[in-house]
Amino acid sequence: MIDISTNYLGLKLKNPLIASSSPLLKKVEHVKRMEDAGIAAVVMYSLFEEQIIHESLELDHYLSRATNSSAEAVSYLPDIGQYSLLPDKYLENIQKLKKSVNIPVIGSLNGVSKGGWVRYARHIQDAGADALELNLYYISTDPTLTAQELEDTQIELVAEVKSSIKIPLAVKLSPSYTALPNFVKRLAETEVNGLVLFNRFYQPDFDIEELVIAHTLDLSIPTDLRLPLRWIAILSSQVNTDFALTSGVHTYQGVLKAMMAGAKVAMMASELLQNGIGRIPEILHDLGTWMEEHEYISIKQMQGSMSQKSVAEPAAFERANYMKVLSSFQDLP
Ligand SMILES: Cc1cc2nc3c(=O)[nH]c(=O)nc-3n(C[C@H](O)[C@H](O)[C@H](O)COP(=O)(O)O)c2cc1C
Repeated sequence: MIDISTNYLGLKLKNPLIASSSPLLKKVEHVKRMEDAGIAAVVMYSLFEEQIIHESLELDHYLSRATNSSAEAVSYLPDIGQYSLLPDKYLENIQKLKKSVNIPVIGSLNGVSKGGWVRYARHIQDAGADALELNLYYISTDPTLTAQELEDTQIELVAEVKSSIKIPLAVKLSPSYTALPNFVKRLAETEVNGLVLFNRFYQPDFDIEELVIAHTLDLSIPTDLRLPLRWIAILSSQVNTDFALTSGVHTYQGVLKAMMAGAKVAMMASELLQNGIGRIPEILHDLGTWMEEHEYISIKQMQGSMSQKSVAEPAAFERANYMKVLSSFQDLP
């Protein structure tokens, strides 16, 4: 009997497949179906800082730095009248989910500044969430804001959230840090329980006929897996925390690769949005079959087997491999 269980954030999970934060998690009925389909845990859609503290001075400060015009920036924020009930509704949804399913439910907060909204971390805990994922979604556009300043603020924010709750905390990151390994090490020192690599930033496009910004959200494709795969392979053997891989997990092969890199869990959003909840049992079935054929007895045995420390060619994750790959393109066909 193959053991596909794993541990993540101190939670014992029956398998390594988690439904990542997305609108699919807004309906209890969907979460129930995911549980029946075999998902090990779910991360709720995020509660956004903007929904909680529309007029926070600190947030104004961030936004004005980001856009050079706080008035303009605030006009992009959700109308507070329209959204003011949402935080309560969010907490209610956690309570409903906890009553309806037995799998762990991870709450999700999405923010950039410290402030009163941090208390929502505690509210999410009190509503019954088994853990919290904090999504550090910030796009720096200010040439005077240094990496050090930005990272210090984020570390302080994480430390503050961590000290305000008792449930495990994971931090979801973007790949855009100049010295990612150092930042990850600093995050681990705040005693966060896990790191989720990586968030996918929404990328605005241009409508060249209307000369306006086109708001598009593309789902991921399987090759998007390579970015978090490389970084988890590099970091999992050096930083002592639980890594979760998100971005580009569409197949059982994606889950296997995540495990081999050293992740404790693989998270999935786009595949479920695109091809439905029915993909969960297919992926889990194929995962078990592959493991049996390759004589693995457990997921834990596989975790980290292809981390940078474990592979025969550690330079494959670094610059040397780039030169090798480039030189494989010699000429036109
Ligand atoms: C429509 C949509 C909504 C999302 N909403 C959230 C969100 O509220 N909070 C969050 O942390 N991530 C959110 N994400 C990001 C996903 O959780 C996931 O990290 C990302 O899509 C990469 O995984 P994937 O390749 O499996 O889609 C969203 C993604 C999509 C496609």
